[in-house]
Amino acid sequence: MSQQQPSDAYLRNAAKPQGAMGEEVLTRMNEHHRDLADWAFQHVHVPTYSRLLDIGCGGGANLQRLLAQCPDGVVEGVDYSPTSVALSTKNNRTSVNAGRCIVTQGDVGDLPYPDNRFDFACACETVYFWPDLQGAFDEVQRVLRPGAQFLIICEMGDPDDPRFADADFITVYTGEDLRDALQDAGFQSAVLRTQGDWFCIVATV
Ligand SMILES: C[S@@+](CC[C@H](N)C(=O)[O-])C[C@H]1O[C@@H](n2cnc3c(N)ncnc32)[C@H](O)[C@@H]1O
Repeated sequence: MSQQQPSDAYLRNAAKPQGAMGEEVLTRMNEHHRDLADWAFQHVHVPTYSRLLDIGCGGGANLQRLLAQCPDGVVEGVDYSPTSVALSTKNNRTSVNAGRCIVTQGDVGDLPYPDNRFDFACACETVYFWPDLQGAFDEVQRVLRPGAQFLIICEMGDPDDPRFADADFITVYTGEDLRDALQDAGFQSAVLRTQGDWFCIVATV
């Protein structure tokens, strides 16, 4: 997210991308979140033979990253925006056609997967938009196998950030609050790391 005041239309398309503007915002985010994700992914070990999930997969850049890190596995993406699902699919077309990447429309509050399906999950720049955080964390735990890691990545952690004062569909959390919420939800451990304004949390089921 830019440090300047984003327009209401931009924010709404970051929360739920729609149509041509949604595609433009997603394409920009694929580029803008790259350094943040490069930093955060250093803190996890992605198993080689595995089934991985990217929640709120947006324009699909992290699906591409996971596909490269897990050459023998299957990578799934879920997003409640049809525009995000379409762009993630388009940007990972070869892997989708090969059956190595599956992108599904769905809400984190009601994930369209059976229990214990995944060995790893990540959520980059999306928790701000989840209306029921504890319900979402319960869902993430349900679809992860015991011992699996869940990586949350955020570039903003100031709940009083004035840029979002009028946006009732965005909640900015501190890293400490998210870490505590993961522990309250029953994750075995949750380790918070920061770099400047950025933070990531690696939680283990
Ligand atoms: C700011 S974008 C981030 C996209 C991508 N993860 C990235 O880092 O560039 C947030 C994405 O989360 C998705 N999203 C927001 N709330 C969601 C929910 N409740 N369930 C599933 N996806 C959600 C949005 O549709 C959007 O694609």
